[in-house]
Amino acid sequence: MSQRQLFVTTALPYANGKFHIGHIMEYIQADIWVRVMRMQGHEVHFVCADDAHGAPIMIAAEKAGVTPQQFVADIAAGRKPYLDGFHISFDNWHSTDGPENHELAQQVYLDLQKAGLIETRTIEQFYDPDKGMFLPDRFIKGECPKCGAKDQYGDNCESCGAVYSPTELKNPYSALSGATPELRTSEHFFFKLSDPRCLDFLAQWTNSGAVQPEVLNKITEWLEPGEDGKPKMGDWDISRDAPYFGIEIPDAPGKYFYVWLDAPIGYLASLKNYFGKIGKDFEAFMADPSVEQYHFIGKDIITFHTLFWPAMLYFSGRKVPNAVFVHGFLTVSGEKMSKSRGTGLDPLKYLSLGMNPEWLRYYIAAKLNGRNEDVDFNPDDFQARVNSDLIGKYVNIASRASGFITKRFGGQLGPISADGEALLSHLRDGVAPIAELLAGRDYAKALRDVMALTDRVNEYVDANKPWELAKKDGLEGRLHDVCSTCIEAFRVLTVLLKPILPNLATQVEAFLNVTPLTFANAQQALGPGHAIGDYKHLMQRVDPKMLDALFEPPAEPVEPKPLDPDPNASLPGGEALAPTITIDDFAKIDLRIARIDACERVEGSTKLLRLTLDVGEGKTRNVFSGIASAYSPEDLVGQFTVVVANLAPRKMKFGVSEGMVLAASHGDEKAHPGIYLLHPAAGVTPGLRVR
Ligand code: MSP
Ligand code: ZN
Repeated sequence: MSQRQLFVTTALPYANGKFHIGHIMEYIQADIWVRVMRMQGHEVHFVCADDAHGAPIMIAAEKAGVTPQQFVADIAAGRKPYLDGFHISFDNWHSTDGPENHELAQQVYLDLQKAGLIETRTIEQFYDPDKGMFLPDRFIKGECPKCGAKDQYGDNCESCGAVYSPTELKNPYSALSGATPELRTSEHFFFKLSDPRCLDFLAQWTNSGAVQPEVLNKITEWLEPGEDGKPKMGDWDISRDAPYFGIEIPDAPGKYFYVWLDAPIGYLASLKNYFGKIGKDFEAFMADPSVEQYHFIGKDIITFHTLFWPAMLYFSGRKVPNAVFVHGFLTVSGEKMSKSRGTGLDPLKYLSLGMNPEWLRYYIAAKLNGRNEDVDFNPDDFQARVNSDLIGKYVNIASRASGFITKRFGGQLGPISADGEALLSHLRDGVAPIAELLAGRDYAKALRDVMALTDRVNEYVDANKPWELAKKDGLEGRLHDVCSTCIEAFRVLTVLLKPILPNLATQVEAFLNVTPLTFANAQQALGPGHAIGDYKHLMQRVDPKMLDALFEPPAEPVEPKPLDPDPNASLPGGEALAPTITIDDFAKIDLRIARIDACERVEGSTKLLRLTLDVGEGKTRNVFSGIASAYSPEDLVGQFTVVVANLAPRKMKFGVSEGMVLAASHGDEKAHPGIYLLHPAAGVTPGLRVR
């Protein structure tokens, strides 16, 4: 297959809140697909951005006492730990308030105007005389015109379900000021989507295979005549009056684009911004008919992406999307996520508990079939799939075979006989169809097929029992053969899992001592004589305690008890500050991020725990720490902490300690017991320097 050029996006999240697990699910779905495309050798540009504009963000910023620009910048500053933490490989993250988007949105609008598809009309709308602004529907409340329920929103009644327009509410009031709104007229700009040209184009585009069949079903009512003989598609109001946080409409003072006009143009703006950074020609790329454009979105924003957006692009003379991929919503233990109640599964908490991001990537992938269906995160199911399938069936293949290769055969693979070759060719035959499933976004079926292959490998292991071969004389050759088959099988399986488990695949590449795995090189066996590296444990099991901690509601803030009634502030934490040092003194201390890979009690000591630390050095360190009174070993495994990495090694009764981990405690430990190990913020990796 020749190399394709792809432009891929996920929906631009509103810049009024942190990511929730639904966002992360969308990014994982798209990221897996992007990695599949890259592994197939295609050129992929994968971008996203914050959706900065609109009345809700403007109002939230006002409440927070900052400019909207500052408000969205603060949100943007918090994105990285989530994206890095879950290995989301965006090439660029931008903002719809960037200069590229201002320019592009105005160009698109002017092009639509030239095409004769923009019209102005005078409309009547509620105006808040206190705030001096027109009110968006959701900021108008009143009594339901049908059932009389109080405090209902301007568009529908939560009590009886009636749908109406805000002007029909009885005793309306502004949710911003409480004032009684006045009806005022204003000139608005409309995109004439009901124009026959638009309907014809959309009928053709939506039936071109660009949307999933279940999505097409949902949107046909907009395009095909209904009971009254007319399609539901009306003209789209694309303007809002000042004050508004958005992009100004050219030659229309005081008028701004409605946020949903400039938001998808933000896809192009982020790509343009990225191309500016890497010195690639944006105009030429977008004008190239062979470039393919794909958007991953959730089911709540289908009409914007499958009707309004393609029409905007087409009639402004631009490339239209090749496809819009719609996913359902993620629920947690069957419950919908709600902005007000928060979500049951906080992605950053997940990471800070030391839970492996690839467990979540694997679990989500195992649930996604590429259709517009909801997906449930269920903790028991999560634990079972990761522990029994991913680790029990796949990771264990490597751990069972590699020890013999290292200890008995100098790390070198040996010749493989016919039964091993038969197994391997069955695996290799699976690569192309499974890659096809991944490319078709049916990750669930792909993983079922991968697990079926792991079953075959494990049957082979159980039939040949390398641990018994190892005990018998004269069976060295067969042991070498069986273990080499397992390693090669493990390599082929890793190719298939690589888009889902990119970090694990990198570890496997190092362990197998191979160049980056691709679908193509799955077919080329390592062969006899290839030397593999030492096997290091690739993945921990899910500990049910982690899941308990993950779903434990955040503790109610407690009133801090004063440590000392002593008002003597010169004894913070029970001891006076040490003498002043210079920055050069401090620089002598090399503090590093360490991950606790293993931890155990020390026989003969009630104080000490023995920690095995990964400080990013390619080998682990042994460190003793006097924290046994405060922590159980199992609490610490997988956690990150800080270690003094250049402390001279110290011989202790129980062995050599190669560093010291940092913990806080009171100067008078007897009166104020308590030892608190230091933890860095989420997103760190072993070896980072603390300065
Ligand atoms: N800002 C708009 C999108 C503009 S795109 C030009 C928006 N933002 S959002 O933050 O509300 O949603 C971003 C994406 O997250 C959407 O694709 C939405 O469907 C998705 N999800 C929101 N809640 C979700 C779940 N519970 N589960 C899965 N995806 C969810 O809409
Ligand atoms: Zn009602």
